[in-house]
Amino acid sequence: MTVVQNDGLRIAVGSDEVGQGFKEAFLKELSAMDNVREVIDVGPVDAAQPYAEIARGAAELVTSGCADRALLICGTGLGMAISANKVAGIRAVTAHDSYSVERAILSNNAQILCLGQRVIGLELARRLVREWLTYRFDSNSPSAAKVAAIEAPSKI
Ligand code: RB5
Repeated sequence: MTVVQNDGLRIAVGSDEVGQGFKEAFLKELSAMDNVREVIDVGPVDAAQPYAEIARGAAELVTSGCADRALLICGTGLGMAISANKVAGIRAVTAHDSYSVERAILSNNAQILCLGQRVIGLELARRLVREWLTYRFDSNSPSAAKVAAIEAPSKI
């Protein structure tokens, strides 16, 4: 028997109450994409859940190997990134332009993209996420040593 393995990405998707509109749209859309293998809804469980908890949950799914990437949405994308970056090994960025989204993967090997629903419209968000899914970090590129230096102990 031949087992066909879809090598698409496993994406954790979460928002706070402000980002719920984008989140609902992306839960549906990502599930229908060829380059996405699994979509994991990480909350919020209710409108009062702080964005920090949702970001931490998504980040831990990535560091535990249960998700390849996460997409997090709040009002600005800032609180989610700040919170996710508290988890060791996580590189979370807020990016609202095409070039930054590209470099977040190709230069920084960021596992988490954060978007602000109060900053950009859904159509731009959709375009950025579609582009984001096409990039893969090249561990043989000159950026690999630079990313490794993020985790390196301080020399001073
Ligand atoms: C609203 O709570 C707002 O602060 C939040 O959605 C986010 O933008 C924080 O960074």
